[in-house]
Order: sequence, then C-alpha cells, then structure tokens
Amino acid sequence: MSHYFTKNNNLKSDEYIINILFKEKKYSFYVDYGVFSKKGLDFGTRSLLESLDIEKINGNVLDFGCGYGPIGIIVSDNSNAQIDMLDINDRAIKLTKKNIELNRVKNINAFESDIFENVNKKYNFIITNPPIRVGKEILYKILFGAKEYLEKNGELWLVINKNQGAKSLLNDLSKEYNVEVVNKKKSFYIIRAINN
Ligand SMILES: C[S@@+](CC[C@H](N)C(=O)[O-])C[C@H]1O[C@@H](n2cnc3c(N)ncnc32)[C@H](O)[C@@H]1O
Repeated sequence: MSHYFTKNNNLKSDEYIINILFKEKKYSFYVDYGVFSKKGLDFGTRSLLESLDIEKINGNVLDFGCGYGPIGIIVSDNSNAQIDMLDINDRAIKLTKKNIELNRVKNINAFESDIFENVNKKYNFIITNPPIRVGKEILYKILFGAKEYLEKNGELWLVINKNQGAKSLLNDLSKEYNVEVVNKKKSFYIIRAINN
C-alpha cells in the first residue's frame, strides 16, 4: 500500500477540485491520489486553523508538511504573513503551487524538502499537522528540529490526536519549549510550543 508520504512515480492520477469553507469564505483546492485527506479538509487541520489567532499572524511563517496546501493558503489569505510551505511529496508540492494560483494568494512559496533539508531561514511561526505514520524518530526530528528554524520566541503550532501519543509528546516538548495546550477538539490537542 502506498502511504501519503512516499514518492511514487507510478501512482495513478485523477486530479479534481474540492471546495472548503473557512470563516464563511470558500477556498478551492486541486487534490489527487497520494496526498493527505484528499476528500476534504482534515478535522485536525481545521481544528488547528480555527485555534490560530489567524489575522494576527505575521512575519515569516512555515507550513511544514503542507500536503495540497490548506494551512499556508488559508493563513495567507487571512493575514499579512510571508509564507513558505514544504513537503517531501513532490505531487503535494505540484498541487500546492496550482492551489496558490487558484486561490490568488500572494507572498507565498512552496518547495520540496525532506524535513528541513532545503530550509535556510528562521520563522516566526511554524504550523503543522505533522506526519504521524513516519514514526516517532522522524516526528521528533521535525518537532525538535523546528527549534533551529524558529526565531527567539517563535511559535511552533501543531495538532495531534490523543490516541497518537499527545500526552507523552507534550511532556517531551515541554523539555525544550514553553508548551501550552491551546485547544482540545474531540480527541485532538492543538499545541503551541514557544522557542523561549
Ligand atoms: C498529516 S499530513 C498534513 C497535510 C496538510 N498540511 C493538511 O493538513 O492537509 C502530513 C504531511 O507531511 C508530509 N511529510 C511526511 N514526511 C515528511 C518529511 N520527511 N518532510 C517533509 N514533509 C513530510 C506528508 O507528505 C504530508 O503531506
């Protein structure tokens, strides 16, 4: 079985557009096989977006593991931030680039990267619905590696399901960051980790 985070040149393609309503505004996104949550906005992602004080987000923002692009594009449309979006999945990046055009957002850029390998600047915010199925080792490389790419007092925002180890993750994050559970929706925790 092909997981959403693998590169697979033989993966079949059937691109189509989904519509997403956020704060009473309609966004449209190209989706395809091999990208996360192609049937619609993931509940965890929506919970994360709804928990952000989105209009107040500014400076440099990284949407880590952008998939087809909902976090970065919706944050861009509701803020004055300068947004970078990355994903290891080349199809996700192709779709994100098309979705940037489709939603006519500005000051936004998408590129392929395995974890932070192609990242060369620091951010005020890193926002992510992180890949859980990659396993703890890579997940921790992402979430603790993020410290190096955050400005001082920069904020890492993430969503994780209680059943996927939110409590032990919180405990571990609190050793490196100033951590707060900003919101809980169903079994999802929305966590803000400040690089203090
Ligand atoms: C849970 S999905 C979230 C996608 C999108 N942000 C959303 O909310 O719909 C996690 C994303 O992380 C990406 N990913 C997995 N491993 C990665 C890695 N090593 N480096 C960068 N991105 C990775 C996956 O391809 C996937 O698009």
